[in-house]
Amino acid sequence: KILILDFGSQVTQLIARRVREAHVYCEIHPNDVSDAFVREFAPKAIILSGSHASTYEAEDLRAPQAVWDLGVPVLGICYGMQTMAAQLGGAVEGGKTREFGYAEVRAHGHTRLLDGIQDFATAEGHGMLKVWMSHGDKVTALPPGFKLMASTPSCPIAGMADEARGYYAVQFHPEVTHTVQGRALLERFVLQIAGAKPDWVMRDHVEEAVARIREQVGDEEVILGLSGGVDSSVAAALIHRAIGEQLTCVFVDHGLLRLNEGDMVMDMFAGKLHARVIRVDASELFLGELAGVSDPEAKRKIIGRLFVDVFKAEAAKLKAGTEGHKGATFLAQGTIYPDVIESGGAKTKKATTIKSHHNVGGLPEQLGLKLLEPLRDLFKDEVRELGVALGLPHDMVYRHPFPGPGLGVRILGEVKKEYADLLRRADAIFIEELRNFRDEASGKTWYDLTSQAFTVFLPVKSVGVMGDGRTYDYVVALRAVQTSDFMTADWAELPYALLKKVSGRIINEVRGINRVTYDVSSKPPATIEWE
Ligand code: XMP
Repeated sequence: KILILDFGSQVTQLIARRVREAHVYCEIHPNDVSDAFVREFAPKAIILSGSHASTYEAEDLRAPQAVWDLGVPVLGICYGMQTMAAQLGGAVEGGKTREFGYAEVRAHGHTRLLDGIQDFATAEGHGMLKVWMSHGDKVTALPPGFKLMASTPSCPIAGMADEARGYYAVQFHPEVTHTVQGRALLERFVLQIAGAKPDWVMRDHVEEAVARIREQVGDEEVILGLSGGVDSSVAAALIHRAIGEQLTCVFVDHGLLRLNEGDMVMDMFAGKLHARVIRVDASELFLGELAGVSDPEAKRKIIGRLFVDVFKAEAAKLKAGTEGHKGATFLAQGTIYPDVIESGGAKTKKATTIKSHHNVGGLPEQLGLKLLEPLRDLFKDEVRELGVALGLPHDMVYRHPFPGPGLGVRILGEVKKEYADLLRRADAIFIEELRNFRDEASGKTWYDLTSQAFTVFLPVKSVGVMGDGRTYDYVVALRAVQTSDFMTADWAELPYALLKKVSGRIINEVRGINRVTYDVSSKPPATIEWE
């Protein structure tokens, strides 16, 4: 196993991800763990992360002495390189300017780490790497035993190596995807230089995560808000695997879910997994409070507030204990690593901000419950893999995101049950056909080729003709987008045959809708949702 010592960089977690991608087990720990901890951990190799700090300002940001005494390979990244230089007898100086962004690095000296790894070669035959840099200080003198491994014009020592000891360091960030060969470089360090075996798979992660949850929870009880989305579903399945009946899931049905969604969630978790799930049917409450409200922000606020109220009431009962249950002390959330970054709480040893989940922000404190977040270190695609390893169905694990306020933001203006029922049926047809149609070139379904697709209800009527009669019915818009981060998005160029099939089916099968349109707006300036 690999030990990653975290000096507080925002991207430390990406190092772990790259090591996991090489199928090697790793753990991240703060840089100031004790020498005894490092020895007991018995790592195959150690990676020192970057940091926001400077080696001057931060006298306490050093690697434990044991790192250098163990005799295992060490890779220093950015600040990790600087502290390696400072601790082993080299020199580091504060740079006058910060270097930030794309850089081209020249490889030197045919080291085991970089030899043969390059993006292009110069006319003179030097191997060059396209990398991402972010630093102010730099190493200005190599420690004894080290040779130059990489350089840039503004950073003459951008990489150094002491191959006899297996010490390597780079000033750039191999863990980010902007560094084209970064993955290859980390893989080489972990597999070839450290000699770790690439035998770690998601199934092992399940066992490790289960063991951690059991250790953290002991014989106490846990509540989890189940939404049917990927993250809360995977968290529920994982925690249930770990502690079974000690977990109670609360599933709040606000009446603004997709067709049959509530039943599907219950079938999966209560039916197949035999988890304890409390389904709260709050649709009348939600629809009642939403009556007459058409402003999008007002609608969102109402839905958010009611959700918290309903969930809190249920959680309070569970906290107090019910027959056969002594009372919950933990609240579990499906927070994943990107949520942690988004809320500014990247896992540095100093800052561990807790995600304010869109639906249950601040709840653990208000309810006096401890927080359990077993997916906190994982990226979305890893969460999906974990879900598959836990036996959740592929369609559930690879589904599109669904907003917390649900159909509430997909029915324009006032929300009515009649509208929600029409929308649900139309949307189910759209999704069904997206799953049926395959793109010939890639062999993938259009559901998998789009990032998010849904139907929007427009509360306006237009005239149509059906059989011999005139109709005067509602309109829906189909929306399908492709995006990697949901910050920007392109509308998807769905095949006409697919659009034709969907519109034909909706108009024929959903009495009350007589016109289907396709939304051809990108984000920005439009948003993905209509409200
Ligand atoms: P927009 O419409 O802002 O949507 O382009 C970007 C992504 O965020 C989702 N979304 C939400 N998700 N609660 C959520 O959990 C919300 O209130 C919410 N509003 C928008 C939206 O579905 C899209 O994936």
